[in-house]
Amino acid sequence: MSVGEYGGNAKEPDAVAKLRSIVGSRNLEKFLMVGIDSVRKLADYTPADLISLKVLDEYDEAARVIRMAREAVGETLLLDYKRRVEIRSLPRLTTGIKAVDELLGGGLEPGKIYGIAGEFGAGKSRFCHQLCVTVQLPPDDLIRGIASKMGIDPDRAVESVLVVDSSDYFNMEEFLRREWPSFIEEGYKLLVIDTLIGPFRQQFPGREEGYKLLVIDTLIGPFRQQFPGREHLAERQQRLNRVIGWVLKHVRRRHLYCVITDQVQAEPTYGGSLKITGGHVLAHGMTYWYWIQSAGSNVRRIMAYDVINKAYGESALFKITDDVLTDV
Ligand SMILES: Nc1ncnc2c1ncn2[C@@H]1O[C@H](COP(=O)(O)OP(=O)(O)OP(=O)(O)O)[C@@H](O)[C@H]1O
Ligand SMILES: [Mg+2]
Repeated sequence: MSVGEYGGNAKEPDAVAKLRSIVGSRNLEKFLMVGIDSVRKLADYTPADLISLKVLDEYDEAARVIRMAREAVGETLLLDYKRRVEIRSLPRLTTGIKAVDELLGGGLEPGKIYGIAGEFGAGKSRFCHQLCVTVQLPPDDLIRGIASKMGIDPDRAVESVLVVDSSDYFNMEEFLRREWPSFIEEGYKLLVIDTLIGPFRQQFPGREEGYKLLVIDTLIGPFRQQFPGREHLAERQQRLNRVIGWVLKHVRRRHLYCVITDQVQAEPTYGGSLKITGGHVLAHGMTYWYWIQSAGSNVRRIMAYDVINKAYGESALFKITDDVLTDV
């Protein structure tokens, strides 16, 4: 995309026009060239990014446009704090395995990055696949959480609500008229649905943008391939850092659930020992670290490795079967 595309009679999209008002007409093309085509995107960059991408030369100028972009999209410290408090009240994502949910304190928290490490064949990918399914489960737990916040009996709310495919959440009334006309007549039930859907929309903007679980099944894998050898280590770590920073912003802003798996590497110590790959950048970048180990042919142990409110080593077992991961 370039400024030229909007020449002649083509109308410049609003997002680009807003960006132009911040970065100025003279610089706009450079921003578009590197894929920064909205104020929202600009707000995610850092001054050092803009300089290394050769979009701007001066640090102060880069810092100024980023500050303006962040203010324009409401990325202020106060909002960030509010968002964190909000996220804490959102429901957790079940893994479908009771023991593991208990270990996780009820499931995965939104807005956090879960690092899952383990040797090849440990079950990291299977774990992620399972989350891709559980994230689509009927939203009973979500409804329970919202209902209790609103002072409605959670069980009654769940009973009263008709569970529909997520694509129908935002057109509930039409869905009900089509699928279940008699439901409409039972006014009190519809009332519950209406009351629930409003906060549901507000609380899950991620849903309206189409997804709420972000899985990166091996972040380090491609970095290991593309930056082989110690001579590329510094650049690899810097880029890795930038990717993690970007992921964290998105996960927080959209209230997403997020899992990043990681490979392990051997440390040359007597008796052998394993550590996570990606150095301090990856180690510090995840909110929580869990480690999956084999505990028998089809049994796995998931262990708290670096979790703020848990002792190292606290663990739960699960079983790999042909289809799902289950309790042992
Ligand atoms: N029905 C089954 N019963 C027991 N074990 C199974 C079954 N199906 C798959 N497995 C085991 O599950 C593991 C698959 O794990 P998965 O692919 O999730 O590992 P991973 O941690 O992602 O590994 P990698 O680092 O190589 O990506 C394998 O060890 C496989 O032997
Ligand atoms: Mg895998």
